[in-house]
Amino acid sequence: MYTYEHDEAVRKLLNKRTPALPAELVLNCVRKTHSKADIFLQTREKFGSPLYFLDIPALIERAERFKNAFNAVFNDFTPYFAMKSCNHPEIIRTLAENGLGIDVSSGAEFQTALNCGAKKIVFSGPAKTIAELELAVSHADRTIILCDSFTELKKLMTIGKPVSIGVRITTENNPLWRKFGIQPHELEEFINMAENTCARFCGVQFHSSWNLKPDNHVELVQKLGKNIRNLPEKHKKQIDFIDIGGGYWVEEGEWMLADTAEEMKLNKQLLNHPCDPLDHRYLPSTDIEAYALALADAVKKHIFPHITCRIFAEPGRFIAHGAIHMLLTVEDMKQPDIAITDGATNMLGWERYEMDYFPVINVSKVSETEHPMMVLGSLCTPHDVWGFAYHGSGMSIGDLLVVPDQGAYTYSLRQNFIKTIPESVVFDGKKVNMVNCTSIL
Ligand SMILES: Cc1ncc(COP(=O)(O)O)c(C=O)c1O
Repeated sequence: MYTYEHDEAVRKLLNKRTPALPAELVLNCVRKTHSKADIFLQTREKFGSPLYFLDIPALIERAERFKNAFNAVFNDFTPYFAMKSCNHPEIIRTLAENGLGIDVSSGAEFQTALNCGAKKIVFSGPAKTIAELELAVSHADRTIILCDSFTELKKLMTIGKPVSIGVRITTENNPLWRKFGIQPHELEEFINMAENTCARFCGVQFHSSWNLKPDNHVELVQKLGKNIRNLPEKHKKQIDFIDIGGGYWVEEGEWMLADTAEEMKLNKQLLNHPCDPLDHRYLPSTDIEAYALALADAVKKHIFPHITCRIFAEPGRFIAHGAIHMLLTVEDMKQPDIAITDGATNMLGWERYEMDYFPVINVSKVSETEHPMMVLGSLCTPHDVWGFAYHGSGMSIGDLLVVPDQGAYTYSLRQNFIKTIPESVVFDGKKVNMVNCTSIL
């Protein structure tokens, strides 16, 4: 039944204004891409297109920045890169070489981490199979299994070999998120049960997603602190680490097409106005140094009074974001406003740019001006969009387009759908080489 509350909600939504994406944020990204235009053009000359262009210096810079932000506020901190955000073997290998641990969530990811030389692994994720747990236990020298349930602990009992374990705590009552972890009040029971196994209980994990600012994360630390405070002293002593999970957004904020902003969706439905393709919106985000500081304050206030322990984190998006750029060639043009590229959204695995905004940059015709244009992929489906605008001084068949900073939740979701998955090239700061990675996950 339609009520006054519905009216109020609609009124509120119509008055909402998601901020415009600041022009300088887009320009920074465009200029950074322009500065590598020659490298991109030479790469296509040598290797063709479409391509995943792996930017190793950008990857290392992000990883260092993350480590430094958290090392500055915690005495004993270990980051584990969340492989689900980007499972390219070159990325995993580089991060492992640079001292990061790897967070895996399946036997397949575990095997990739081993193949890529990971020295420290945390194995998270629900419903691990006996085969997956056996693989992890057979590499107990470098692994901590983050149990997701009592069932997993029972499976470890049947395996009957020593391994370090932690347990994930459920953080939300949201129906779909309840699938993760054990309830906070079950922690004591879990530790008691672990005492009767070969597994060595040594820590607690939680994870929250999509954190543009630290508030939610800080609240979870506070809740966990209350739980830990109530544990018997002997259990408190067993906690050697708290793993605060991932979910750190990039400081540029969340970029979206105007249509995606909540109030615009409603406007569009009511007025049926198409949105302006040059109108982009954003949700601001906290920079990682301030984020780390807020978390450290929370940990010092709510956890360290009860236990002394190491801190782990599982960043994915923050580190992977700038590590891959998509290289595409304009293959066809239809009418003045439709360009079709050789690469398609099977490179990403989801219809990302029907909601999100990222600049499409023509490096064959460099300009800082953005123009409307439907830039579409070549899949035989209309749900194959790179963007509704491009930066450049024109657009013609044969031009090289770059969609920068597409390292997170794209490559790892790629699909063999209609088109095959493109090749990858690796830029090490000096030269570009092709890598063959089809044989590993
Ligand atoms: C358990 C766990 N850890 C870490 C991450 C990484 O999150 P993000 O890429 O947002 O940092 C995820 C993402 O879903 C996750 O499920």
